[in-house]
Amino acid sequence: MKMEFNIALLKGDGIGVEIVDSAVAVLEKVAEKFGHKFNFTPYLIGGCAIDATGKPLPQETVDGCLASDSVLLGAVGGTKWDNQPGNNRPEKALLGIREALGLYTNLRPAKLYPSLRSASPLKEEIVGDGFDLMIVRELTGGIYFGDRGYRQGKYGEEAFDTEAYSVTEIERIGRVAFETAMKRNKKLTSIDKANVLESSRLWRKTMHELSKEYPEVEYNDMFVDNAAMQLVRNPQQFDVIVTSNMFGDILSDEASQITGSIGMLASASLGSTKRGMYEPIHGSAPDIAGQNKANPIATILSGAMMLRYSFGLSDEADCIEKAVDKVLNDGWRTADLMGSAEGTPLTCTEMTEKVLEAL
Ligand code: IPM
Ligand code: MG
Repeated sequence: MKMEFNIALLKGDGIGVEIVDSAVAVLEKVAEKFGHKFNFTPYLIGGCAIDATGKPLPQETVDGCLASDSVLLGAVGGTKWDNQPGNNRPEKALLGIREALGLYTNLRPAKLYPSLRSASPLKEEIVGDGFDLMIVRELTGGIYFGDRGYRQGKYGEEAFDTEAYSVTEIERIGRVAFETAMKRNKKLTSIDKANVLESSRLWRKTMHELSKEYPEVEYNDMFVDNAAMQLVRNPQQFDVIVTSNMFGDILSDEASQITGSIGMLASASLGSTKRGMYEPIHGSAPDIAGQNKANPIATILSGAMMLRYSFGLSDEADCIEKAVDKVLNDGWRTADLMGSAEGTPLTCTEMTEKVLEAL
């Protein structure tokens, strides 16, 4: 059946522009192949929006995203805007759009592609047959959104940020995590710092309550410091991980690196409607921006997640994922994936071409 969808494009800054263009090319080819129509409308976000309008998240961008079926985002930020006040930084726009769209769930899959085994910094005996885990990160609560400010403290002026979680917020992300585990290998690890933080104790208690509703899921808790260690010691022990906004931010970068490159990892941010926001988990990489060196795969795979989660087009999503597998199996690499390999890496546009050919 022919389907038509409106996609808001937030290319953002740095390599965001290049990699979103790559993902659009792939989505257009898939649309043609399966007889669908995707309409793309670009909006400003981040540093480029500050330059054009003074604000990192113009109202027009929020309205455009709310009016679309889904959102594809590149990356925001760069040294040029580092001196902006905290509430006008490019990153603030990312938090703002997540909140405005009600995207409280962030799914960050991290799997080792067998063909990229040598790019993983982990020893072969640790990597074994590979690993495949899904981080479910809470995205609109916790310290990212809690009270913050300046005040007079014991040592004079101090700044503070607050970690706060309600039962409601913990339950709704917990439910997503248990449901995700039910569709995978039925194993869930909840990560907190309940030995120190009150908010983590409520988190743990709420997760335990919820676990009673999912007797089929093998559930365990883990402290975040231990989890950071376990990820490099034995990543295979994990199937689904659920954690707070900040712990998820940190652990997902770690999980991505053990897969070989952060340039490979896609993400989906979801709320209570079908509309989601899809983005690579890496940033704007100002050091390589505009040089056609970026790895477009994380954004291309984010496009595949959009097809699967927002549009229900799983065959089309599979088609993109298989094309990426093929290109990697054929040995094609962008610079970030080279590891110690010899040879000339592909540029961003060349890698995109390879994926298009493989579709
Ligand atoms: C991420 C990023 C963002 C975050 C930044 C850019 C605000 O690191 O998506 O992981 O911390 O959520
Ligand atoms: Mg991050």
